[in-house]
Amino acid sequence: MGRQGRFSHSLDVLPTTGFCAGTHSAEGFWRTGSLLSLMVPVRLGGSGSTGERRATGPLQTTTYSVKRRCYLRYVLGGAYGNRWSRPPARPIREEKMSPKKILIIGGYGSVGRGIAERLCRQVPQQIVIAGRNLRKAEKLAGELGPQIEPTVLDVSNIAASQSVLQGVGIVVMCLDSNNVEVARQCVRRGIHYVDISADYSTLSQIEELRNQAEGTGTTAVLSVGLSPGITNLMAKHCKSRVPDITSVDIDILLGMGDSHGEAAIRWTLENAITQFAVHTPGGAVTVQSLSNGKKTTFPGVIGTRTTYRFNFSDQYVLPHTLGLSTVNTRLCFDSAFATGLFVTIRKTGLGWLLASRGSQDFLIKLLQRVRFGSDEFILKTEGWNDRPQYECSLTGTGEGNATGTVAAWVTRQLLESPRPPGVFHIEQLFDLKDFLNRPEARNLKFEESTSR
Ligand SMILES: NC(=O)c1ccc[n+]([C@@H]2O[C@H](COP(=O)([O-])OP(=O)(O)OC[C@H]3O[C@@H](n4cnc5c(N)ncnc54)[C@H](OP(=O)(O)O)[C@@H]3O)[C@@H](O)[C@H]2O)c1
Repeated sequence: MGRQGRFSHSLDVLPTTGFCAGTHSAEGFWRTGSLLSLMVPVRLGGSGSTGERRATGPLQTTTYSVKRRCYLRYVLGGAYGNRWSRPPARPIREEKMSPKKILIIGGYGSVGRGIAERLCRQVPQQIVIAGRNLRKAEKLAGELGPQIEPTVLDVSNIAASQSVLQGVGIVVMCLDSNNVEVARQCVRRGIHYVDISADYSTLSQIEELRNQAEGTGTTAVLSVGLSPGITNLMAKHCKSRVPDITSVDIDILLGMGDSHGEAAIRWTLENAITQFAVHTPGGAVTVQSLSNGKKTTFPGVIGTRTTYRFNFSDQYVLPHTLGLSTVNTRLCFDSAFATGLFVTIRKTGLGWLLASRGSQDFLIKLLQRVRFGSDEFILKTEGWNDRPQYECSLTGTGEGNATGTVAAWVTRQLLESPRPPGVFHIEQLFDLKDFLNRPEARNLKFEESTSR
């Protein structure tokens, strides 16, 4: 690394030599703008497969009927005298635009509740919160007021609850169900879809609905949250800063003092002992979770920690969406002891302790009650070619809460401005600066440095 220097609000031009570093609160930082942000081409506009075209706006769906197109041709035909130059048989009836509801599945869970609270303050639409326990849904509705509507829904039996999708404009999925029937129903009905799952086996099945989503004018956004989510946007940002990077390392630090929901802890325990295949220049390579430790220096007082490979979905997605040869995601906890304990359990063949349902239930209760360490999280991404080129990090508190902030932001974006139809990962529709510019991101600290 070369010379070090600090700068503020001057990121438009990168130095070609030496080292530069910036530390910023997220708010206002991006207003200076980055001239290098990566533009991912997207197809605008949707085409209906059934003789209709659907245009989506702020929670409104307007169907432009064939008759309406006839009318347009009639008006234009007056000038050109073609066969459409006669009035349509009946006057065109304007479709009534009705505001549609937002359905949050897992809406009273740790992340879902945060999304509901935010959207309640930010949008006028009715918000339906769903889960398998009506009492819990009603309790949250009672706390948040009449804009919230409680309902019962079990995603493993969506056929029994089809009516819950009636009048819904957007669904936010807040659990890893490994069941894509809800996504399939949404795509079939033209209901926009947001998913916070970190589980690639589920996300890959939803990706396959792409053509159908284009046909019905549905926008599905996957990889919404912190990781996947903000890490995807940070990797995209690395590539926009230094376009010739070929790989990205993502390091995630989670606070053991944070309050994590049951599903999130279970996902972590289940994935602590898995093997997974990642994309490399030489083809797919199988990696063991909690192996292949790497020393990494996090910003602030945390300093240097060893992070270990973990089965986050961003490492499957980003090679395809950003054209990278490989992405390596690693995890550690703020407590080096806790990280070491997990690694030791895996190494000593006691992984079954993390795999069995009974011991998971016990550990979830234990980890939700006994908290040690802080509630801080840090996401760090480092872009490489033959050597490290650029790194950036985002520090905040309350991982579940921050996931909710990102999901609420994406949901609002879908409501406020039409996005192209199809199935996308977050980085295919959004930029990091779009998020960091928002007032709700003001408590996050973004830092970056470059060596060229
Ligand atoms: N992308 C990211 O950065 C990120 C970050 C954190 C978490 N996550 C993911 O977000 C998900 C939720 O995490 P969390 O911490 O909010 O967990 P949580 O507190 O356990 O919430 C899960 C919610 O889903 C509901 N649920 C569970 N099974 C259901 C089913 N079959 N049908 C309908 N509802 C069901 C639960 O209620 P009932 O059990 O009463 O039905 C609960 O409301 C997890 O899958 C986690 O992996 C992603």
